[in-house]
Amino acid sequence: LQSAFPELRDARPTAGHPVVFAQRADAGPDAPTILVYGHYDVQPPEPLELWESPPFGRLVAGDEPHPNWVRDPVRDGRIVARGSTDDKGQVHCHLKGLETHLKAVGPLPVNVKLLIEGEEEIGSPSLAPWIDEHRARLDCDAVIISDTAMYAPGVPAITNGLKGLVYFQVDLEGPSHDLHSGAFGGAVPNPVNVLTQMMAKMIDPATGRIAVPGFYDEVRDITDAERAEWAGLSFDDAAFQASAGADALIGETGYSVLEQLWARPTFDLNGIWGGFQGHGAKTVLPAEAHAKFSCRLVPDQDPTAIEDRIEAYLQQICPPTVRMTITRLHSGKPVLTERDHPAVLAGIRALKSGFGADPVFIRTGGSIPIVATFAEKLGAPTVLLGFGLEDDRAHSPNEKFDLACYTGGIKTSAHLWSELAGICG
Ligand code: BES
Ligand code: MN
Ligand code: MN
Repeated sequence: LQSAFPELRDARPTAGHPVVFAQRADAGPDAPTILVYGHYDVQPPEPLELWESPPFGRLVAGDEPHPNWVRDPVRDGRIVARGSTDDKGQVHCHLKGLETHLKAVGPLPVNVKLLIEGEEEIGSPSLAPWIDEHRARLDCDAVIISDTAMYAPGVPAITNGLKGLVYFQVDLEGPSHDLHSGAFGGAVPNPVNVLTQMMAKMIDPATGRIAVPGFYDEVRDITDAERAEWAGLSFDDAAFQASAGADALIGETGYSVLEQLWARPTFDLNGIWGGFQGHGAKTVLPAEAHAKFSCRLVPDQDPTAIEDRIEAYLQQICPPTVRMTITRLHSGKPVLTERDHPAVLAGIRALKSGFGADPVFIRTGGSIPIVATFAEKLGAPTVLLGFGLEDDRAHSPNEKFDLACYTGGIKTSAHLWSELAGICG
């Protein structure tokens, strides 16, 4: 494949991690041009001791084997490795799919551009400027992304909605140093007490709704047609609960689990710390408290407007007894993608060939912030053609990609290029 796409060898610099960009114009100026996007970066593999095999593949000479890494990364019909499903394995499906077409059929009936970036997992900060700089080379008629999941094993899907995101860190400072909680407690404000009281005000416990004033102002209602369509997918709440290893499911009053996951905004503390964290007890009144939290957003919420409202609410509920610093870490816009564009219909046909079953439309609670940027800057529709499964443990130890998904993804990609050939009329 590297001889077909020689530029695949070269990383191109950005302000951050390099991008890989390669193209072939086999089909000429009148044929459609397809941009395939994916990402080679991954979330940190830690904690390493929870992996059953090395997170980055087979042990090679010089690697320090962890005592728990006893098994082959390819086992039980799965590839177990960081990035196996998110997103290196899915990118590889397209590389093998292109190779298959080139070997078995011949020159591609569409022009293909490959754009593989290295900062998706941190919100793609360097890619938008890189796109601006290289805008002319990125002209395309459709964007194909395989970085989402199928609905279920054997049930392929096109994802037509991604959530957006706002991510905050809040730091509270109280007394100038940690204090004896007997000598000072009750009289001196405790920043951890204050922070937990504040965080408890983010969600209304009676309704499960986010309590930030104006938070829901732009939330688009789920249509009756969507409710009916999603009810028809007969989502298994109990299996979902079991896959999370959770003792119960929660949610916003009036919405099913699937509606909550796909079309309602959420608030989650991602981490909270401060004070004594060691073994045993230490009677201390801590000087500082810290929290990281994020909200997933849905159409038509605007991340900046939501950040402003969250910040105003934090200022309102923070007592004057502590000093607060609010940091906006990153954000991304929610998107709904088209369902009846010819490129989507081509994707549906390719999935059917690849997996031998009719695909369904789904949404996801995950985010791929660059998709909104593609719509704005390239003006081309995105087709989210995902080959993963919800139980792939993306971002967790023992992330895996089923070989059935891998081979189905390769077959889908091998069929995709011919299916896309006619999309420009
Ligand atoms: N591939 C995921 C997005 C995703 C997750 C799609 C679950 C479908 C189901 C992507 O790599 C990801 O993890 N995105 C981050 C974005 C964030 C760091 C800006 C996410 O959703 O947390
Ligand atoms: Mn991903
Ligand atoms: Mn990810």
